[in-house]
Amino acid sequence: MKNSRGRWWLCFAALGALIFTGVGTALLGPAAQAQPAPETPAQIFTRACGRCHPNGDEDVGPSIKNKRLTKARITQLIRRGTSNGRMKAITPAKLSNPDLTKMLGFLRTIRAMR
Ligand code: HEC
Repeated sequence: MKNSRGRWWLCFAALGALIFTGVGTALLGPAAQAQPAPETPAQIFTRACGRCHPNGDEDVGPSIKNKRLTKARITQLIRRGTSNGRMKAITPAKLSNPDLTKMLGFLRTIRAMR
C-alpha cells in the first residue's frame, strides 16, 4: 500500500516534468533558434581556411602567421587563389564579402595582415 502510493507520486512528478519541459521548449525553443549566435572572426577563419592553415599554421598550406600582407593582397589571394593554383579561389558563395571583412580581424591578430 505504501509502495503503490509512492509510485503515484512518481507518476505526477514525471507528468509535471514533461509538461514543464514541453511548455519551456515551446516558449523558449523558437526564440532561441531564431537568433543563432553570429560567427566570430576566428570561427569564420576556421570554416573557410582552417582546413589548410589551422589557426594560421602550416598544414596543407604554409603558415600565414607574420606574413604582414596588405589588405588588398590578402583579399586578392582569397578571391583569385594563388597564381600556381595550389590555393584555389574562395568564392563569395563559400565566404561572403561581409564574412571576409570580418575575418580580416582575425588575420590581423596573427599578423597575416598588417
Ligand atoms: C584547400 C587548401 C587551402 C585553403 C582552404 C586555403 N588555403 Fe591559403 N594556401 C594554400 C596553399 C597550398 C598555399 C600555398 C600556395 C603556393 O604555393 O603559392 C596557400 C597560400 C596562402 C597565403 C599566401 C602565403 C604567402 O606566402 O604569401 C595566404 C595569405 C593564404 N593562403 C591565406 C588563406 C586564407 C585567408 C584562407 C581562407 C579564406 C585560405 N588561405 C584558404 C591552401 C589553402
